[in-house]
Amino acid sequence: MESMDLGTWSESELLTKALLMIEKAFKRKKLLTAVFIVAAVFYFLFGLYDVSATRPHPTIVNMIFHSITERSIQRNSAALTVPYDVDDGKIYVKGFREYEEMCVQCHGAPGVEPSPSGKGLFPEPPRFPEEELYEYSLKDIFWVTKNGIKMTGMPAYGPTLKDERIWAVAIFLDKSRNLSEAEYKKLRDKYLKNHH
Ligand code: HEC
Repeated sequence: MESMDLGTWSESELLTKALLMIEKAFKRKKLLTAVFIVAAVFYFLFGLYDVSATRPHPTIVNMIFHSITERSIQRNSAALTVPYDVDDGKIYVKGFREYEEMCVQCHGAPGVEPSPSGKGLFPEPPRFPEEELYEYSLKDIFWVTKNGIKMTGMPAYGPTLKDERIWAVAIFLDKSRNLSEAEYKKLRDKYLKNHH
């Protein structure tokens, strides 16, 4: 989905454009439109919209954003095919290691808290596997991990990692939907060298 990229316009360019729009609206005797544009300019350019990570968006913004994200992910991942055997135990363990290295600090795991950085993000990363994953298929998980989610803390791993590593971690998550704390601890004890 392409969105208008306001980031490349400077504030003065934005102001000029807004002023032109206001002038046009006045000429067409569209007073309400003019008032609306003035209000919007004040609201956004003068910092009245609170972007802090501790004050949640209004719920309606949250809901809209979440369903946009979900639809976008599902639409984009539909054409993918899974190139690996999802029942291959080696891939699962590889995915577990990737998860520990790259994801657990934000998403946590059964019996494992996210790091302070992960907990400080807004929107908060869902706790895996218990939250959110039910909405997503294996292909969805791969697509999100590869492409990230705009304007959230969710990074895109596609620019830096080979697809093979991304599939491994996606397969691990997909297969771990019902993982218990005890099972996760077993994985850590068995496959993490520096873990005690
Ligand atoms: C820096 C923190 C951070 C890291 C590291 C991170 N994520 Fe995320 N992730 C997020 C946030 C925040 C969201 C929620 C975005 C939203 O609300 O739309 C998210 C969303 C997701 C989602 C979609 C779930 C949903 O509700 O939209 C998946 C799947 C996911 N991450 C997988 C991973 C995987 C796999 C890794 C490791 C390779 C990873 N993430 C690493 C922060 C992170």
